Amino acid sequence: MESTPLKYLDTHGKAEVMELFAGHVSSGKVRFFQAAGIDFVLGRREGPYLWDLAGEKRLIDCHCNGGVFNLGHRNPEIIETLVQSLRELDIGNHHLISEQRAALASRLAQLAPGDITYTVFGVGGGEAIDLAIKVARGYTGKPKVISAQGGYHGHTGLALAAGDEKYRAPFGPMAPGFIQVPFNDIEALEKAVDDETAAVLLETIPATYGLPIPDQDFFPQVRELCDSKGALLIVDEIQTGLGRTGKLWGIEHFGVVPDVMVIGKGLSGGIYPMAATCFREKYEVVFHEDPFIHISTFGGAEVGCPVALKVLEMSSDPAFLGHVEEMASVFSAGFKSLKDKHSEILVGLRQLGLMMGIEMVNEYCGPLFTKAAYDHGFLSVFAGNNPRVAQLLPPLIIDRPLAEEILERVDGALGEVA
Ligand SMILES: Cc1ncc(COP(=O)(O)O)c(C=O)c1O
Repeated sequence: MESTPLKYLDTHGKAEVMELFAGHVSSGKVRFFQAAGIDFVLGRREGPYLWDLAGEKRLIDCHCNGGVFNLGHRNPEIIETLVQSLRELDIGNHHLISEQRAALASRLAQLAPGDITYTVFGVGGGEAIDLAIKVARGYTGKPKVISAQGGYHGHTGLALAAGDEKYRAPFGPMAPGFIQVPFNDIEALEKAVDDETAAVLLETIPATYGLPIPDQDFFPQVRELCDSKGALLIVDEIQTGLGRTGKLWGIEHFGVVPDVMVIGKGLSGGIYPMAATCFREKYEVVFHEDPFIHISTFGGAEVGCPVALKVLEMSSDPAFLGHVEEMASVFSAGFKSLKDKHSEILVGLRQLGLMMGIEMVNEYCGPLFTKAAYDHGFLSVFAGNNPRVAQLLPPLIIDRPLAEEILERVDGALGEVA
């Protein structure tokens, strides 16, 4: 691969890319990164690494685009699957019955928690969340959707209305019926959920809110509450799904079967967009009268289905999940000593598997840590809705030496933040 001349990278040169990007994509992003002293344009990417287009700077990807790159960048098995699939398939036609979508949906039915057996495909997470809300409203005939303050479900219509205020404030009237309550607060939820409630929508661990790990009995109580009020429990597994927490689905840690589970990001293998809204059989009735009432031209594109199947095969392998647990224990041990060393700024590690948030003392720390991480050779993005916390989401394929190297670099970055 090294010797093949590159056709798509470095054809413009870094300065020209900056200028074109500022002039035609986003001047704000260019200004932001320049002001932050982060002089980086994404170039080559392989495994756990990202390189600057000019080739001088290498970063360990500890953001992974929220789980898109769980299997690393350009995973050879995923690429090979897509290459094969491209020889026979294209996007397909979403009106028609499809072998590829049927195969992927039936595999999801085998792997999803409990009796979740149906899937409607989308292109991105926001779209899949929108559909989950449509299923809940369509089935119950009720309007209200209760979600978490600080939560994040995407930027599409209903997903945006369910997310934190910050992202919707500038964009005018939202769809009505949405209420937010504090996460992990069953009493607040009990007050909010009533007979008009269609759904409770929660991330298993809210990543943008700084990865607070819910109490062990929170989700079982939410499940009970939803059952008693006839509301659906929708769980957003877009970041926590596909092995990130050491189990295939994050919600498995809490012994609860949701009515609807939404997945995205990592299902793409980092190569071909794919999102899925998976639900229990009884909710399929929503689409009985008019099976074309919800449509997504590119959702579940046939050429991407074999890729998603490969992702599921790799991510559900018990040896793979065991590896995630093993790497997680390297970080939990490492952070115990880092906590002593950096006691003035480090509060602790919020962790479930390799879903990790570095909790620090105040809201200046997250942005400072992101810059310090960049200077120390790794990409870590602070939590947008809780800047005290820096997200640490390395690819799940890292090995022990790389986990230890990341810890060393975190040590250096924390020293700089202090
Ligand atoms: C938990 C969660 N839900 C939903 C979304 C929206 O996904 P997408 O950007 O693919 O629409 C994201 C994206 O970051 C997410 O992190």
